[in-house]
Amino acid sequence: MKKQPRISVIGVGYVGLCTAVGLASKGYQVLASDIDAEKIAKINKGIPTFHEPGLQEKLTESITKGNLKGLVNAIDRAILETELTYVAVGTPSKPDGSIDLQYIESAAVSIGKALKLKDAYHVTIIKSTVVPGTTQNSVKPILERESKKKCGKDFGLCMNPEFLRQGSAFQDTLNADRVVIGSYDKQSGDKLEDLYKEFYSPKVPPIIRTTLSTAELIKYASNAMLATKISFINTIANICEKIPRADVKVVATAMGLDKRIGPLFLDAGLGYGGSCFPKDVKALIACSEQFGYIPELLNSTENVNKKQPLKAIDFCKKHLKVLEGKKIAILGLAFKPDTDDMREARVIPIINNLLSEGAQVIAYDPVATSMAKTIFKDSICYANSVTDCLKKADCCILVTEWPEFKKLTPDDFIKNMKQPILIDGRRIYEPKEFSKKLKFTAIGLGQ
Ligand code: UDX
Repeated sequence: MKKQPRISVIGVGYVGLCTAVGLASKGYQVLASDIDAEKIAKINKGIPTFHEPGLQEKLTESITKGNLKGLVNAIDRAILETELTYVAVGTPSKPDGSIDLQYIESAAVSIGKALKLKDAYHVTIIKSTVVPGTTQNSVKPILERESKKKCGKDFGLCMNPEFLRQGSAFQDTLNADRVVIGSYDKQSGDKLEDLYKEFYSPKVPPIIRTTLSTAELIKYASNAMLATKISFINTIANICEKIPRADVKVVATAMGLDKRIGPLFLDAGLGYGGSCFPKDVKALIACSEQFGYIPELLNSTENVNKKQPLKAIDFCKKHLKVLEGKKIAILGLAFKPDTDDMREARVIPIINNLLSEGAQVIAYDPVATSMAKTIFKDSICYANSVTDCLKKADCCILVTEWPEFKKLTPDDFIKNMKQPILIDGRRIYEPKEFSKKLKFTAIGLGQ
């Protein structure tokens, strides 16, 4: 039997940990290194550092079987004791929207130093999302300078973007739609392709082989397309609201039946949030502008998304006229269901605006309350249940479409609220049923 390669992963955030556990669960020997000792201690005890369905069980199993081992700040060991190394460190945004490469660059310095001590050919794989040109123009020169070796000859370099969705990131790791492998040299690309063929066997997804920069761009182009689809349908929603009896949900369903358009990512709402779309669209705009091209379409995608959450405030004002002193109930804080992540959550500008208008805010979320407390502190109240949240409220804004909110009936609002005014920011309620009994306003629904 062919010997499985040993693998290391640098950075155990969302992407790094899912990758490490995915590989370890299929029997690969994986070393995971991170600068955060607390994170590594938890991982070595089999406890994931974030909420992700299916991950806990496989992490515990991998640690118990000895397939996965967490190391603190041990890039040298990660390189010397394995054959392939994934780099999955963070690439946050700078204040101007461009990408901050400090973690990638410092990981590259350490990898280069370790490569200097290693005789055998080693493959470094950039998995972090980086703007086109980064692997070729920033990572490669650092690796060559620190290792005093030649890329393509003494060691290999690949770019292999991830397409994981929070809430199903671990499942996405095990079942990919496609694998993109950008490689500097053929040998490293072949090694990574072999790994994926074995990993996904017998159901190997399409594997796209390309250059480093094209691989980098595929990730940004995919996220920019999805973000644009959302801003597009939100634009149609805003038009629908001006047209009596028009409904964006029906428009989207009919559009989605056209195979060229497809039904996914056409849910109109209060806009997109999360750690990827906002950051990646901004980074692609900044990168494009650096190359001298103004990507007008992407600027519009971003502008539509910036304004979209504020529609909730307009709707509130339409019903209540003045918000000062009014009690507003918020259902949902997380940027989407099945996560406690609040990065770029659309609820943040909504709550900030309500507070600046003098409203009292009470919010409920099934899992994101403790995360929300770090953002809003005691400027808002936190409810323990939907009922608690709706009690004596003047208006309710549905911000995140958690399954438990979908089960609510008009009576749940009527019996608890002071005034039964509901704003459906994610189109989860049936307008016919709800508008009969409540003062009901929804995104993309013509009055
Ligand atoms: C996304 C991409 O899907 C993933 O491929 C990439 O690697 C990382 O970014 P994620 O951020 O986890 O994943 O969330 P996703 O489910 O894509 O949703 C992003 C945002 O778009 C959420 O705020 C969601 O509410 C919003 N959204 C999504 C809509 O408003 N309408 C839709 O139709 C779909």
